[in-house]
Amino acid sequence: MLLLSVKSLVTAYNELTKLDLRVLRVIEVAHRRYEWVPLEVIVRWSNKPWELVSKSLKKLNALGMVIRWKGNYTGYRLTYTGYDALALHTLAKRGVVEKLSPTPLGVGKESDVYVAEDPVGNKLVVKFHRLGRTSFRQTKRFRIWVGDRRHITWLYESRLSAHMEYKALTLTYNAEVHVPRPVTVNRHAVVMHYIESCRLSEIRGGLDRPEDVLGTILEDVAKTYREVGIVHGDLSEFNIIISVEDETPYIIDWPQWVPRTYRNALDLLRRDLENIISFFRKEYKLDVDLDEAIRCITEGIEVGELELEEAFEQMIGARELREYVLGEHSEESIERELDRIEREFSETEKEDREKLHIATTGTEKRE
Ligand SMILES: Nc1ncnc2c1ncn2[C@@H]1O[C@H](COP(=O)(O)OP(=O)(O)O)[C@@H](O)[C@H]1O
Ligand SMILES: [Mg+2]
Repeated sequence: MLLLSVKSLVTAYNELTKLDLRVLRVIEVAHRRYEWVPLEVIVRWSNKPWELVSKSLKKLNALGMVIRWKGNYTGYRLTYTGYDALALHTLAKRGVVEKLSPTPLGVGKESDVYVAEDPVGNKLVVKFHRLGRTSFRQTKRFRIWVGDRRHITWLYESRLSAHMEYKALTLTYNAEVHVPRPVTVNRHAVVMHYIESCRLSEIRGGLDRPEDVLGTILEDVAKTYREVGIVHGDLSEFNIIISVEDETPYIIDWPQWVPRTYRNALDLLRRDLENIISFFRKEYKLDVDLDEAIRCITEGIEVGELELEEAFEQMIGARELREYVLGEHSEESIERELDRIEREFSETEKEDREKLHIATTGTEKRE
C-alpha cells in the first residue's frame, strides 16, 4: 500500500475519473459535519450507485487521497493529497494551470512547491500549504469560526495560511515591492509567477553586487512597512530568492505577516531586519546599523497598539478573514453545496469513467 502513495501528485491526479473527483468533493463538504464521513453518507450525497462509490473509495484510499477508518461504522477522511487534488482540479478547470511538474521544487516542512505552466506557457509556482503558520490561527476568533469542526483544523489552518500569503503578495506586489507576481489562490494553494532564481542562503558569499542587493531588500522592507503597512515576520536569507537574470532579490513566503498596527509588529520588524543585516555582515562584511535602519523605516509612523485579531480585522475585514478560514461557500447550506456538486458533475455513467488530465512540465527537480 505504501508504495502506491508515493505516486507524484500529477500522476495520481491523472488516474482520477470524474466520479472519483465527485466523491472527493462530497467528502470535503461532509467534513463540515463529520470527522470520519460515514460510507452511507458519501454514497447518498454522491447520488451514485453504492458499488461505484465503494470502488472509487478503494481507489482513492490506494492513491493516498483519503484514509479509511473502521469503528462502529466505516468512515473516510481527506488527506493533504486529496485536498491537493481538489485544488489542482479547480485550478485546471479555471484555466490557471495546464501543466505541473512531477516532483516538488523543494519539499519544505511547511509547504510543497511545484513548478507549473499556464495555457499560454507562463511558468508558475503552485505552493500547497501544509501546516498553518499564521499567528491568527491561535486567536480566539479563529477558534470560534472553526467551531465544532475542530476535528479537521489542519484543513482550515492550511487554507488560512494560503489566503494570508496571497493577500500579502497582492498588497506588496501592487506597491511594487519585489515579490513574485500573484495569480490566484484556491483552498490551501497559492499560485504565483515562477522566478528563475537561487535562494540567498545558497548563494552565500557569491553575489556580484551585494550592496545593491541589500539596498533593495532594505528599501522593500521599508516600503512594506510604510506604504503597505505590514511586516513580513519570517524574513531571512532562506526566504529571499535572487533572480538569475539580474540579481534582483525577491521576498517570498509571506503567510505569517502582521499588520504594523499590531502591538508586537515592531519586534517582528526588528527581528526581520536583524536576520538580514547579520547575514550580510557575516557573508559580505557589509555594515549596516540595526537601530539606524529601524529609525529610518519607522520614522513618523505610530507604534502599533492593537491586539492581533483587531489589527487583522481592521486591515482585512472580519468577513473576508472568515472566508479565508472557512472557504468561499462557507455561508451556504450543505444542501446548496451538494446542488453545486450535482450541477458540476451531472454526467452519464460513461462520462463518470472519463479520466482527468494535467500534462507534466519538463522541469526537473533541482535538489
Ligand atoms: N515564485 C517562486 N519562484 C521560484 N522559486 C520559488 C518561488 N516560490 C518559492 N520558491 C522555492 O520554493 C522554496 C519554498 O518556498 P517558501 O515560500 O519559502 O515555502 P516554505 O514555507 O516551505 O519555506 C523556496 O525556498 C524557493 O526555492
Ligand atoms: Mg520558506
